[in-house]
Amino acid sequence: MKGVILAGGTGSRLFPLTKVTNKHLLPVYNKPMIYYPLQTLIEAGIKEIMIVSGPGHAGHFLNLLGSGKEFKVKITYEIQDEAGGIAQALGLAEDFADNEPVCVILGDNIFEDSIKEHVKDFKKGAKVFLKEVTDAQRFGVAEVKGEKIIGIEEKPKKPKSNYAVTGLYIYDAEVFKVIKTLKPSGRGELEITDVNNYYVNKGEMKLAMVKGYWLDAGTFNSLLRASNVLKEKEEKKSSNS
Ligand code: G1P
Repeated sequence: MKGVILAGGTGSRLFPLTKVTNKHLLPVYNKPMIYYPLQTLIEAGIKEIMIVSGPGHAGHFLNLLGSGKEFKVKITYEIQDEAGGIAQALGLAEDFADNEPVCVILGDNIFEDSIKEHVKDFKKGAKVFLKEVTDAQRFGVAEVKGEKIIGIEEKPKKPKSNYAVTGLYIYDAEVFKVIKTLKPSGRGELEITDVNNYYVNKGEMKLAMVKGYWLDAGTFNSLLRASNVLKEKEEKKSSNS
């Protein structure tokens, strides 16, 4: 399986922090934000990772992460010319994926859980990772019946559940065909939620619940919270060692 980190977008919710740099390079406690999703993929045993970012900052990611040698993986880079949504950015990884399944993670999503088993066991279709939250309106929200997702709504005003769809997805190679059929949403973007609903409607969407913390560091408050959570984790680690 290949890995894709989506690190584009304008970071408008973090302005002016993102006026001259990319959101995914901002510090989260003692590391640049992108280190965390990168670590999630590496820990899962993924060896080939593509970073998709905008033209303004692609060179900064290259300066920071290089070939990936330091992390014992191969990192390649792709440019998303204009911010056209998560699904559009993923579409740029088609040649890189080369008919293999892909594990996709948003560059501002930080997970405590390991996804190693999910990566190892994946065969076909798609899998999303859900987390119960108190502010579901901010996210893609899954309607769940028993063990199944029956629909996902992107940032609903009246969420049908408290299950946020986190920014971590596993897809088979069909995802690239699906992306080509998408039309831009109301906010002018190709939505990952439309990709996910394709798999839901086909009966090929699986779900996993996130057990540990999940942080989406895309707003001032969640960015600050992420730094605090990771500071506590580091302090616990050093007091136990
Ligand atoms: C995106 C997705 C949303 C998902 C969220 C997770 O939203 O569109 O479905 O729940 O990431 O972080 P964004 O943060 O780009 O608004």
